[in-house]
Amino acid sequence: MAAFYPFLLFLHGLTRWLVLAGGLWLVVAAVSALGRSGPVGESPTRMPWRLYMGSIHLQLLLGIILLLISPLALATWSDMGTAMKVRPMRFFTVEHSTMMIVALVVAQMGAVRARRAVDARGAARTSLIYGGLSLLIILAAIPWPFMGEIARPWLRSW
Ligand code: HEM
Repeated sequence: MAAFYPFLLFLHGLTRWLVLAGGLWLVVAAVSALGRSGPVGESPTRMPWRLYMGSIHLQLLLGIILLLISPLALATWSDMGTAMKVRPMRFFTVEHSTMMIVALVVAQMGAVRARRAVDARGAARTSLIYGGLSLLIILAAIPWPFMGEIARPWLRSW
């Protein structure tokens, strides 16, 4: 277990870049397809949606395991009252986790609606709105290295 935690943290930090690459690819593909007509099956947003949703779901799985084994999370669960006054504990167990789940729900709604759109243009518009919004939430909830008490590295070694 002692070696499992750093590995999970490394993987969770690394997969963040897959999420961001997928989200950015999705937004660029959606913007480029806004004026394009044609069947929804030909929408260029299909592949980026797969990368984006796949990597967010992987983050959810890794995040839930982290909430069960991380020393920071375990210390939080053992004394919630005190922990909520400690910024990093409150951030990772409540704010970060909740915002990422909200982003996942928004993205999931967008992926389903884009698939059901009447044409490629509709799929592009839906992808831009839902994909863009979920990406903004994710960007805001990542513990970037410049964020003081909650700062984490750009890339963690393991
Ligand atoms: C798109 C989704 C997500 C992204 C991009 C993301 C990103 C990150 C990053 C960059 C870190 C810091 C990693 C490091 O220290 O090297 C982190 C930590 C953490 N994340 Fe996430 N995360 C996501 C979703 C989630 C979810 C859904 C949960 C919980 C359900 C979660 C729980 C945690 C926890 C508990 C930590 C801190 C663990 C510790 O320090 O011991 N994350 N996350």
